[in-house]
Amino acid sequence: MARTPRVKQWFAPGRVNLIGEHTDYNMGFVMPVALDMGCTVRAAPARRPVLHLSSAQYPGEMIFPLDAIPSMKRTGAWADYVLGVAREIAALGFELKPMRLEIDASVPTGGGLSSSAALEVASALALLDGRELPKLEIARLCQRAEREFVGMPCGIMDQYAALFGEEHKAILLDCRSVTHQYVPIPDGVEIVIANTMVKHELGSSAYRQRVAECQQALSFFPGRESLRDVTLADLERASRQMPEIPLARARHVILENQRVQDFLAAALRNDVAAMGRLMVESHRSLQHDYEVSCEELDFLVDTALTIEGVHGSRMTGGGFGGCTVSLVDRSAADAFRERLSAAYQQKYGLVPAIYRCTPSAGARRIA
Ligand code: GLA
Repeated sequence: MARTPRVKQWFAPGRVNLIGEHTDYNMGFVMPVALDMGCTVRAAPARRPVLHLSSAQYPGEMIFPLDAIPSMKRTGAWADYVLGVAREIAALGFELKPMRLEIDASVPTGGGLSSSAALEVASALALLDGRELPKLEIARLCQRAEREFVGMPCGIMDQYAALFGEEHKAILLDCRSVTHQYVPIPDGVEIVIANTMVKHELGSSAYRQRVAECQQALSFFPGRESLRDVTLADLERASRQMPEIPLARARHVILENQRVQDFLAAALRNDVAAMGRLMVESHRSLQHDYEVSCEELDFLVDTALTIEGVHGSRMTGGGFGGCTVSLVDRSAADAFRERLSAAYQQKYGLVPAIYRCTPSAGARRIA
């Protein structure tokens, strides 16, 4: 009788970022929370020396000979996230094992909740198949896969959150030292995520452009390693030489880093009103100085702020669609969901998916 192959299942969470947006690739601070939604990879040994990929979300199956993977070019399909990770794992000296990977995502794709990092990290765990590698190394190899193979010059926030998530906690990550501290979420409030259900095409090219604009801003401060090292006073002194756009981008990054610190202090003293105000300031800065919001995100934020029991609301993730995150009194959360959903439907004719965020643990084997 044939032996049933040993199937293992690996899970990595998506994330919502509470504050600290577009600061990670400027070596700044971010504060993501790992979600209970994410990506599951079911891994079984393959009989031939191939990597066999399928997804519950996309039709078709893809088969890649293992020995071709290290020199492959990107395909343009979702499989690139897995192939990029496989290449990095091979480059670290691990032999790629013949495998069938079945992928299933419970986090919406393209919704700003980091479905791609969840896919990368869950795939990395499946491909490593129990071979030891420190979590930070896994986060970094997944980030390299996305930057170098997929071609998206992202920071480390999403992959880090997918690995280091913790129940009931947010993660304050310092993207320069790449170390973190956990931050308790105050009692009595809920973190509510609302999905615009739109993704504007501009997203990835604008992201690249923002990364370049930050580099341009930095070039006005010779000797500084990143915008993390530039103060508001420095910026004011340089403001007459700087073109308007890099000036505004740098102002966002500098003030956003300060807001993350202030948000941390507010969270530690249970000051949800101050946390909420900082979220709104963050949103306005992303809307006007960094210019990565969009009409739908602004509508969700502005509407949220008219509803009772809401302390703050902002866009989360890269922008140009995707989700908002709001801090809402637990007792007001149901009414908030209903009102926000009704208003959005009336305006855009789209039903926004609304999720309660349950701060959850990082990537792990689940079966
Ligand atoms: C995307 C990137 C992250 C981060 C955010 C913006 O999610 O993957 O690295 O830059 O955008 O804060």
